[in-house]
Amino acid sequence: MKKILVAGIAFLMSLGVTMTVNAAGDAAKGKALFAVCVACHGPNGEGNAALHAPVIAGQEDWYVERQLNNFKAGIRGADPKDLYGAQMRPMAMTLTTDQAVADVAAYVASLKPVKPATSLKGDAAAGQASFAVCLACHGANGEGNKALNAPRISGQFDWYVVQQINNFKTGIRGANPKDAFGMQMRPMAMTVATDDIAKNIAAFLATK
Ligand code: HEC
Ligand code: HEC
Repeated sequence: MKKILVAGIAFLMSLGVTMTVNAAGDAAKGKALFAVCVACHGPNGEGNAALHAPVIAGQEDWYVERQLNNFKAGIRGADPKDLYGAQMRPMAMTLTTDQAVADVAAYVASLKPVKPATSLKGDAAAGQASFAVCLACHGANGEGNKALNAPRISGQFDWYVVQQINNFKTGIRGANPKDAFGMQMRPMAMTVATDDIAKNIAAFLATK
């Protein structure tokens, strides 16, 4: 099993080499567009647990851009079971041009990363051990790796990390055939066998 997993990761990493070239964003222009985002993600992109809105402050522009385009195209957030993605989708649709998407992504990336409050009682030490499968792409501390298309997942709400792992597992996210990068993540989420393991990983990432 372990051997198969390692081979699988090596294969997926080889796929990760193809990178998309993004239009350069203008953070100053993006700031104006961000007004519509503040209601849920907060003025500093710090997120809002009560509104199920994740931290986006300091997330890298290429990933923010990709997610906004995925929401717009219905690659993410269009599954009938994706209640929270459905809230985000119409917001992404307010960004009508590729330039607007690039501008707001540049602004989001310029915001100072925050350390969100934790809400789950995971075991961070156990989570670090389970994270061994993840670090090939996301980095030892979940800092992300652009070359492998893997976003930063540290500095994120624990409940959001668990929710996304479950979304990938159930195919609410990452099952659309156009979702090339979500499809790389989905089999990895499937190695997270239980909710407790997901909570432990989220607890570990919260310490980073
Ligand atoms: C009505 C509340 C709401 C507004 C307004 C909103 N969002 Fe969101 N956003 C959400 C929710 C909820 C999610 C989580 C979706 C999920 O669980 O998959 C989300 C997810 C995201 C993500 C994905 C984060 C990740 O780590 O994958 C990005 C990027 C994002 N929003 C950016 C924006 C931007 C930029 C705007 C303004 C144009 C905006 N949002 C406006 C609620 C909102
Ligand atoms: C083969 C590389 C790879 C491995 C290994 C991997 N991931 Fe990912 N992960 C990705 C990619 C690529 C994405 C971005 C998907 C997208 O663009 O929608 C992602 C996205 C995510 C997200 C969503 C982040 C967000 O802001 O919404 C979470 C959470 C996540 N991964 C957790 C994990 C965990 C936990 C593990 C280990 C069990 C893991 N990943 C292993 C490649 C990987």
